[in-house]
This record gives sequence, structure tokens and C-alpha cells, in this order.
Amino acid sequence: MAKILVIGAGGQLGTELTKVLAETYGNEAVIATDFHESVKNKFGYCTFHTLNVMDKAALADIVEKEGVTQVYHLAAILSALGEKNPVPAWDLNMGGLLNVLEVARAFAIDKVFWPSSIAVFGPNSPKDQTPQQAFKDPNTVYGISKLAGEHWCEYYFNKYGVDVRSLRYPGLIGYKSLPGGGTTDYAVDIYHKALNEEKFTCFLSADTYLPMMYMEDAIQATIQLMNAPKENITIRTSYNLSGMRFSPQEIYQSLLPYFPNFTIEYVSDFRQQIADSWPNSIDDSAAQHDWNWKPAFDLNAMTATIVDNLPSYFNYNKHK
Ligand code: SER
Repeated sequence: MAKILVIGAGGQLGTELTKVLAETYGNEAVIATDFHESVKNKFGYCTFHTLNVMDKAALADIVEKEGVTQVYHLAAILSALGEKNPVPAWDLNMGGLLNVLEVARAFAIDKVFWPSSIAVFGPNSPKDQTPQQAFKDPNTVYGISKLAGEHWCEYYFNKYGVDVRSLRYPGLIGYKSLPGGGTTDYAVDIYHKALNEEKFTCFLSADTYLPMMYMEDAIQATIQLMNAPKENITIRTSYNLSGMRFSPQEIYQSLLPYFPNFTIEYVSDFRQQIADSWPNSIDDSAAQHDWNWKPAFDLNAMTATIVDNLPSYFNYNKHK
């Protein structure tokens, strides 16, 4: 039986992915872990342990005692927070991954998932339909750590046969959990402001296009990648992954039919520079070819779903 360890389970992606893993493989197959004990109450349905991924002995202990066969290692410091704390971001993003890869090797774990990001691209990468193998010159600590991490994953696969698989996620947008410390976070926050009838101040300019994805698509892609036959996985760094592309102005406009009085102002801060260094859109033909990737949600479908479901999650009154 699969025993799946999720590291960083309390985060934006982990909160939703852990639940879907439990629904797919059974509650008893999933072990949620997080550095923050306070997130424990999200995981009443499965085993939970507090874990700092920097503590390799504690990680190895859980893997051994629980008989872990798969690891989803999601703990990281994202782009904006990383720029405020460059060395701690590097330490966690690299040190955590190396601990996971070492433990995976030592305990012959079947499969590892590790997220990379559009942040591996930089100011001199092509902006539109950025190809898988495009030139990369990331200029954030987060992006540098993701690019280095991708090569560590490939190294552990080639040298030790660790079956580690990875996706370069775009900005992830969902209504069941909140992001933290990222440059794409505005695209989650805007829904909360609209539903709460507050004015939205966007930290990116109106026409800043970024690659984005609805959470359900991101989870679907992750599970599809992890279930793909090993021989189909031709990319052992990380797959480009595309869902949709939009600007702050466009997501704002997608909300107006529901909230005609909703207002937005644009006040760019240091995150503008980060966003400007990333692609506008992504070419994910390798993912389409290797494991049949196809997203289901565009901007309007995502907005309709979030507007419908977010109020009950966060206790907002819909259409007050
Ligand atoms: N969503 C991430 C960030 O904004 C990008 O991977 O940092």
C-alpha cells in the first residue's frame, strides 16, 4: 500500500493537495506534516506530525516508522518573502530539498514530487510562450533556488535512480487556502476583497501578464504526472505547465459582472520587478505530449467557481 508523506501540508497547495491525496488513496495512506503545529486542525482526517524539513534525522525517523513510499515536498519560501530574507530562503529551499532527496535515496522511496516554478525564468528568457528549454537567468533567490533544485532532482534521478518528478507551477489560485509570500498572491487576494466589498489595491500594474492556474488544474496535473508511467517522464528537471494567462486588469474585469461596484487601484511595489522578470505565458507542449496534460479552467470559469464557493469557506455574504 502507498504511504504518502506531505511536507509543508499546511500551505496553499498542501492544504488542497493533501485532501485530494487522502480521497484518492485513503485517509490512512496519507501523513501530513508541517513546520507550524497550528495547522494541525486542517488534518483531522489523516495522521499529522509537526516536522521541520531541515531536521533530516526527524524526517528519516518519520519515513522509517511510517513506512513512507512517496513524498510530496512542498515546503518553501516563495519569491517576495525570499527577497526580504535571501539567505534563510536559500537555506530552506535548498537544504530542505537535499534532505528529502537524501532520505529518498537512503530509504529507496518509490516516488518524490517537488514543485518548481515559472520563477526559474529571468529577464532575458523569452516572455511569450516561454519554451521548456528556454534560456534561464533567474534574478530572485526563489528562482535561483528552484533552478538549482531542478538540477539536483535530475542529478538524483540520473545518479541514484530516485524517481523524482516536478512541475514548474504558474501562480496558483484557489479558494480553500491562502497563499503567502508570493508575487502572484494578488490574484487570490482580489477575490477576497471583491467578496468583502472592499477596494482592491494591486501591487502590480494593470497590464502585468503572468502565467496562472486554477488550483483544481494544478492538483490534477500533479496527480497525472505522479501516475504517469516512468518511461513517459522524459524531463527530469521540471515540466513547464500552463493553465491561463491574464493581467490584473483582466481578472478585475472578470469580477465586474458579479460585483459591479468593485474598484481597483494599482500601486506597484518591489514585486513589480519580480513579475516583470517572469514569462507572460508558457509553452507546455512537453507535458501535453508526455502525460496528456490539458487544463480545464480559463479565467471566466475560474472566477465563476470561486465567486460561487469562496463565501462559504470564508464566511462572506455573497451579493450583500
Ligand atoms: N507563486 C509563486 C510566487 O509568486 C511563483 O511560483 O512566488
